Amino acid sequence: MTTLTTPTGPRTAEAASRLTRRDFPQGFTFGVATSSFQIEGATSEDGRGPSIWDTFCRETGRIRDGSNGDVACDHYHRWEEDLDLIASLGVDAYRFSVAWPRIQPTGSGPALTAGLDFYDRLTDGLMARGVEPHVTLYHWDLPQTLQDAGGWVNRDTAHRFAEYAGIVAERLGDRVRSYATLNEPWCSSILSYMIGEHAPGLRDRRLALAAAHGLLLGHGLAVPEIRCHAPGSQVGIVLNLTPQTPRSEAPADVQAARLADGMANRLFLDPLLRGEYPQDVFAAAGDDAPVVEPGDLETIGAACDFMGVNYYSRGVVGEQGSAVPEDAPVTDMGWEVYPQGLTELLVRLKTDYANLPPLMITENGSAYADRLENGAVHDSERVAYLQTHLGALLDAVQAGVDLRGYFAWSLMDNFEWAWGYEKRFGLVYVDYATQERVLKDSALWYQAFLGKR
Ligand code: NOJ
Repeated sequence: MTTLTTPTGPRTAEAASRLTRRDFPQGFTFGVATSSFQIEGATSEDGRGPSIWDTFCRETGRIRDGSNGDVACDHYHRWEEDLDLIASLGVDAYRFSVAWPRIQPTGSGPALTAGLDFYDRLTDGLMARGVEPHVTLYHWDLPQTLQDAGGWVNRDTAHRFAEYAGIVAERLGDRVRSYATLNEPWCSSILSYMIGEHAPGLRDRRLALAAAHGLLLGHGLAVPEIRCHAPGSQVGIVLNLTPQTPRSEAPADVQAARLADGMANRLFLDPLLRGEYPQDVFAAAGDDAPVVEPGDLETIGAACDFMGVNYYSRGVVGEQGSAVPEDAPVTDMGWEVYPQGLTELLVRLKTDYANLPPLMITENGSAYADRLENGAVHDSERVAYLQTHLGALLDAVQAGVDLRGYFAWSLMDNFEWAWGYEKRFGLVYVDYATQERVLKDSALWYQAFLGKR
């Protein structure tokens, strides 16, 4: 059996550490990202309805530390202080998401003014500080009422989503120039309906594939709604793409990796960019493959202005499943640190998809077991992670990939879904007992990289 060795990227870590934003093309956007449920708290304020994550957090054993999103980073109340923090980093842009249940508590019907007002203030606050708002419309907090009717398996949810997207675009459209419909539909379908790790916590492949199709349909229906209410803005979708490398050249491993790539990546890329679902994935799913109605693929294939890519790691796949190669560096999530996978992925997208729109890295980052000591957090591993991934990104730019921006995940530590508050992804440390925010060394490094210090 061929043993897998981790190849060294074309740029050494030392060389990557010397990069600054001036090494990137003019006009390249640098930002930080968050999402509503992970930071806002205030889950029952101003008329917000319950989301599937509120429900999920209350089910025993779902969240490793037994926590929930009721307070989170209390951003709903501390948003002004947080905007000052964002501006202090020297970023060009901030990616945040709108909580659907703050706008429509049950997922349909008239919009709540208080909910829209919150995102309106946030938008104005960002613009006043010279930071571009980048809005994501769905980062997993589905109104519970829609889940009760089947969630993304019910085609009506896709129509409700498009309506909600139009409401938000109408309110923010005169200021927000960038909208992503969905964040990581793989997570809100496969991880949520088949693997059972995310809300609603189901374990059913048929439902998961139907949810994936429902999400894509929702995206396709939302695109023209957003364009209609926010003309001239950039509209796209955010996918988490994870390269799947065979662990050896044995045909069974190669075949397993190909199928894993189908489920993780092509299941979303192909309908969006090629107008078809991957045959091999549907064949492997047999009777569990979703019902695709006439016209659905045309709807899903609506042309986008950008595609957001969230990149964290790769999968190394064999006949027996996926495993991190021995001795590979890993983050606190147990995910392999593999920056060159980002270059490989981006070059592959350019090669495989003739209709690829310009790309943005909408998330990239790492969790480490940070400790606050004497008012500082020395997260040197996170600094190295960011540097080497920016180096990998630059390699892709130099290979001719049309890349327009990079958002570090995350602005600050927050509710890491099934892991609760145990995992810290922030550039800024959050002391949950006091809600104090402390810039980690990675935030100080990002400031310097951006020329703010
Ligand atoms: C991707 C998700 O969009 C985000 O919500 C999550 O916190 C990060 N990955 C880290 O797992």
